[in-house]
Amino acid sequence: MPTALVTGASSGIGAVYARRFAARAYDLVLVARATDRLNALATELRAAYGVAVEVITADLIDPAQLDVVVNRLRSSPPIDLLVNNAGAALLGGFAGADPADMDKLLRLNVQAPTLLASAAVGAMIERGHGAIINIASVVALIPEYFPGIYAATKSYMLTFSRGLAAEVGPKGVYVQAVLPAATRTEIWGRAGADIEQIPGLMEVDDLVDAALVGFDRKEEVTIPPVPEATAWDAFEQARGGLAAGFGNSKPGARYLG
Ligand SMILES: NC(=O)c1ccc[n+]([C@@H]2O[C@H](COP(=O)([O-])OP(=O)(O)OC[C@H]3O[C@@H](n4cnc5c(N)ncnc54)[C@H](OP(=O)(O)O)[C@@H]3O)[C@@H](O)[C@H]2O)c1
Repeated sequence: MPTALVTGASSGIGAVYARRFAARAYDLVLVARATDRLNALATELRAAYGVAVEVITADLIDPAQLDVVVNRLRSSPPIDLLVNNAGAALLGGFAGADPADMDKLLRLNVQAPTLLASAAVGAMIERGHGAIINIASVVALIPEYFPGIYAATKSYMLTFSRGLAAEVGPKGVYVQAVLPAATRTEIWGRAGADIEQIPGLMEVDDLVDAALVGFDRKEEVTIPPVPEATAWDAFEQARGGLAAGFGNSKPGARYLG
């Protein structure tokens, strides 16, 4: 049986990923801070699907606790799939943000998933197969609608994921970036927002099921609420058009005085 390690499995998107991969006969390693919730989910999944489930309680902001997860990724049984999902939001603008809160957000949303992917990918390349799912956000593409650094952390996840996909895809490792829009989970309440005031919330089961359709299709970027694939194709074409100028050794004429 393949094994999936899911961070942030105690609630929301991560808990649904854990249920779905258990249903696909993956053994699981569940990671988050809330041991009781992880144990309850582990008991449910063992009973429902007969899979093996390990629980690791870890605060991924803490380097020593992050190391425990890094070490698990480097050990046996090997991890076939990493779901880099744990994350938090930080509401409010940049100018008034507490530097300590930003430090925690950067460690959780950027540093931890980077180091976990680093720990996982070597063995995947050696085996010639494996997968990494990176949970970004649509705000990666529309940062002007989400003041503060949260959108930038999610842009990092998108850029990181795409660069990694280009590097390790040819070596048999599939890397998917998932960009949810507003989804009904605890993230809003944890960040101090009233979820009832958030328009257009997607249900978390719908979000993950759609993301898994993208996973099965081996999409590099999956944006569940976008109806037409052509919208993404047009975006990529525009990006390619822009990049066509990057090789010029002289500034564009419009910048010449
Ligand atoms: N919901 C949305 O609207 C939305 C939209 C776009 C992207 N996302 C992304 O989706 C991912 C999952 O969020 P969610 O919406 O499912 O929210 P959620 O229900 O709040 O889940 C967040 C998960 O991360 C874990 N976590 C938080 N801080 C942690 C820490 N310091 N160490 C270890 N685990 C930690 C939480 O578990 P513990 O508290 O037990 O540690 C929980 O399992 C995040 O990366 C988020 O940025 C969400």
